[in-house]
Amino acid sequence: MVNVILLSGSPRKKSNTVEVLDVCAKEIEKNGLSTEVIPLRGMSIQSCVACNKCVEKGNCVLKDGLDEIIEKIRNADGFVPAAPVYFGTARGDIMSALQRIGKVSRGSDEFLSWMVGGPIAVGRRGGHTLTLQEMSMFFPINDMIMLGSRYWNMVFAHEEGTTNQDPEGLEMVKLFGENIAKLIKKIKD
Ligand SMILES: Cc1cc2nc3c(=O)[nH]c(=O)nc-3n(C[C@H](O)[C@H](O)[C@H](O)COP(=O)(O)O)c2cc1C
Repeated sequence: MVNVILLSGSPRKKSNTVEVLDVCAKEIEKNGLSTEVIPLRGMSIQSCVACNKCVEKGNCVLKDGLDEIIEKIRNADGFVPAAPVYFGTARGDIMSALQRIGKVSRGSDEFLSWMVGGPIAVGRRGGHTLTLQEMSMFFPINDMIMLGSRYWNMVFAHEEGTTNQDPEGLEMVKLFGENIAKLIKKIKD
């Protein structure tokens, strides 16, 4: 079992979003919890088709690999989705994933309840706050505990592997990771 699952919505090989999640994961691990960064790269995530099979079966019957990720989230204490900003909003696949993860949780054992986390947005220049707002809708409707840091969890980066050009953004992501680990440990005490 992994304590915190971090899910990247980027399709790129040398992804800035994954780079940011690695920074967050490292901070969580420094604070004593295990992590796994999972990229959606190479996958083609379908939107929820409202078949309601999850209510019957407890998992998602769509065969694109997301259900295996859902199983890992089900067993975790924390969940951090991150998206590259595309045209001012979150890349579609991460929103499709969040909607299906939420649907399965609500339709089965409500595994997201009291899970700790929050979203991260990565983009070149603009649309980070709307991307965060979009992803933020996922947390309170699923009885989750959404955390922040001292600024919103956003990083400015464009070319592959350039997140170090935004040290302030990375500092906030580190603090966010530390906060997640500390709160999970308090809840589990
Ligand atoms: C189709 C597309 C749309 C984009 N739209 C925006 C945008 O609206 N705002 C922005 O700041 N960056 C935008 N970008 C840039 C990416 O967000 C940026 O390159 C980011 O670092 C990509 O993260 P990744 O390397 O994890 O995929 C866009 C990129 C693509 C491919």
